[in-house]
Amino acid sequence: MIAAFERLVRPLLHALDPEDAHALTLKLLKFAPALPVAPDDPRLAVRAFGLNFPNPVGMAAGFDKNADVPDVLLRLGFGFVEVGTVTPRPQPGNPRPRLFRLDADGGVINRLGFNSQGADAVLRRLAARAEAGGIVGINVGANKDSADRISDYVSLIERFASVASYVTVNISSPNTPGLRNLQQATALDDLLARVVDARERVAPNAGPTPVLLKIAPDLSLAELDDVVGIARSRRVDGMIVGNTTLSRPPSLRETKLAQEAGGLSGSPLRALATRMLAETYVRVEGVFPLIGAGGIDSGAAALAKVRAGATLLQLYSALVFRGLGLIAEMKSALVDALERHRLDSLAELVGADAAAVTAEPWPD
Ligand SMILES: Cc1cc2nc3c(=O)[nH]c(=O)nc-3n(C[C@H](O)[C@H](O)[C@H](O)COP(=O)(O)O)c2cc1C
Repeated sequence: MIAAFERLVRPLLHALDPEDAHALTLKLLKFAPALPVAPDDPRLAVRAFGLNFPNPVGMAAGFDKNADVPDVLLRLGFGFVEVGTVTPRPQPGNPRPRLFRLDADGGVINRLGFNSQGADAVLRRLAARAEAGGIVGINVGANKDSADRISDYVSLIERFASVASYVTVNISSPNTPGLRNLQQATALDDLLARVVDARERVAPNAGPTPVLLKIAPDLSLAELDDVVGIARSRRVDGMIVGNTTLSRPPSLRETKLAQEAGGLSGSPLRALATRMLAETYVRVEGVFPLIGAGGIDSGAAALAKVRAGATLLQLYSALVFRGLGLIAEMKSALVDALERHRLDSLAELVGADAAAVTAEPWPD
């Protein structure tokens, strides 16, 4: 039923300005009938960060920035949903246009700049659904004009720990000037020390809240050495690899749109993001699990991410081009792989190709 509805609606959405199309999609989802959740194949279940995921396919941050539809997304088959990025105070983000669809490439460029309704509004919505079950994480970021960005992260963790399944510290958006500097060693160590300390402080009331770190795929390998070393020593619960890229692969066909400033996502990001995932996996040495994101656009791409080192997956851009049917396609590709290898869980495939991926020539 959803597939048929989508076939009707997608041409309309693609005729609209991309940001208007996104707003309309959220509205349609809000009023979607409450279909029952189809049970997942039990072999797709994943335990990570102390949480039980029914399947590893997650909605990436940025689609539901203000927690309008997390439960609809869970019902559509996602194993988990990451809402946000939320900033402490509401902020409008950058001027429009700020979202571009690279149709011929299956890519998206955005320079939204953390448009957020702010913590109060998002907290209210998450608190209202806190008993609903399902894994809903919150992705947090600093206000653009913040005088103390680290304090922004600390305050958001304190506020959201009791209503979110996990918190993602997002220091990898390219669209807030200077934000990515928090990935630099001294700043990152200070940030993670304070964030983990805040999590411990609120744990007696909020319970244990996993803290994840989301990184850019544009780090050098020397920077990645530092980031992983600090994440391990500060005992974060996991990392997400990764966010959008500032790079522009030479293969892009939409050469005019490719010149727009912002972060590139979708199929053209896949090779770089998968390489960075594998590079991260070999450095983490199994100390914590990774979420792989970036260009997952098919069942085969989902499996490749797992084999490169992802315990869990997140996607966004491919949904714009391929629609919600992709979720079921990915899950059945993963089940097929389990059957082919006669395995009971994906855990045994995680990272199987990581060493091989890191030995390939660096992707363009
Ligand atoms: C329009 C758009 C908005 C995004 N907003 C956020 C955001 O607010 N916070 C964040 O951490 N990532 C954000 N992302 C990045 C995605 O979460 C994801 O890491 C990235 O797009 C790679 O996955 P994909 O290739 O499947 O889209 C955004 C991506 C897009 C396309």
